[in-house]
Amino acid sequence: MSTIRSRPTEGGNPGETPIHEPVALEAGDAFVITPEIQKVVERAQAYLKAGYPVHFSGPAGAGKTTLALHLAAMRGRPVMMVHGDDEFGSSDLVGGDYGYRKSKLVDNYIHSVLKTEESVSTLWADNRLTLACKNGDTLLYDEFTRSKPEANNALLSVLEEKLLTLPTKRPGGDGYLEVHSEFRAILTSNPEEYAGVHRTQDALMDRLITIKLDYFDRETETRIARAKSGVALEDAKSIVDIVRGMRQTGLVRHGPSLRACIMIARVAAQQKVRPWEHGFHDICRDVLIGLSARVVRDGEADLRVKIDELLARHTQAPSRKSSGTAIEVPVTTEAMV
Ligand SMILES: Nc1ncnc2c1ncn2[C@@H]1O[C@H](COP(=O)(O)OP(=O)(O)OP(=O)(O)O)[C@@H](O)[C@H]1O
Ligand SMILES: [Mg+2]
Repeated sequence: MSTIRSRPTEGGNPGETPIHEPVALEAGDAFVITPEIQKVVERAQAYLKAGYPVHFSGPAGAGKTTLALHLAAMRGRPVMMVHGDDEFGSSDLVGGDYGYRKSKLVDNYIHSVLKTEESVSTLWADNRLTLACKNGDTLLYDEFTRSKPEANNALLSVLEEKLLTLPTKRPGGDGYLEVHSEFRAILTSNPEEYAGVHRTQDALMDRLITIKLDYFDRETETRIARAKSGVALEDAKSIVDIVRGMRQTGLVRHGPSLRACIMIARVAAQQKVRPWEHGFHDICRDVLIGLSARVVRDGEADLRVKIDELLARHTQAPSRKSSGTAIEVPVTTEAMV
């Protein structure tokens, strides 16, 4: 007997099947909850419970991804994260061929006769959407409108008919995968006018419950800036008032966002600089003038003037604050500590 079966060779993506592991998220103390955030969380939880996908839409730095992560963690199911990308095709969600397997059979049973047989088969790997549908995970599709609309087509039947259409060549597949009853989707996106964002097909928007988020209220921004930096409560309030004051000028197209508050607060905390001390104005100017690329037409000169006005108003030492310029706090101090 002299039948030799050669070890199959694999090509394309040498090595192993691509593995997409879900992450286990835990709702932690780092997530700041205020009455405003609580209301949004409760609404979103109700929609998810009823079986609907939730979509947070809003400006950069409004807290969409953080909220989505928190909600996903609260579901207690494994989380599959996907980040929208202009280069995505449908296989980046569903899966596709990642290589081939070649096997060769050499049959020399009758020593004067040599028979060889070669076969080549493609290797398939499920991608994150397929795995999440199969296992009942929470799909967190961040910035999904950065992918081209056609790349997201697979979501249409997943969200409506609860069926994922797959290529028939997928091993063991008959072309369809029934979506697990625990599967849920949480999506985030920036408004369409942002650079690099695609207009989503109406049919997909029609399947989502969209919660439009704007910048959080003053209490929430103050608490987050403080929690993320460790600055004193009064300092966090000053920083938030400066950033919110900039937003209100209308000089900048979008923002400055909560990220600007956190940046200023973190650097100030690290440098141990209080708002009325030397160096604080420079930190604020550097962070806020960085926004000048997004300044509306002819607003560049006004931007610096406005920043200096806001700094003069909100960075006085506590003893020098007059009642007219003191920061009004609409929330109890206890709530913020
Ligand atoms: N509830 C919260 N608790 C703690 N930190 C928060 C909270 N919400 C937002 N943040 C912080 O604010 C910053 C901006 O939030 P996030 O990244 O979620 O914004 P985004 O809306 O997803 O922005 P983008 O559109 O640019 O992706 C992050 O540093 C995040 O950690
Ligand atoms: Mg985000």
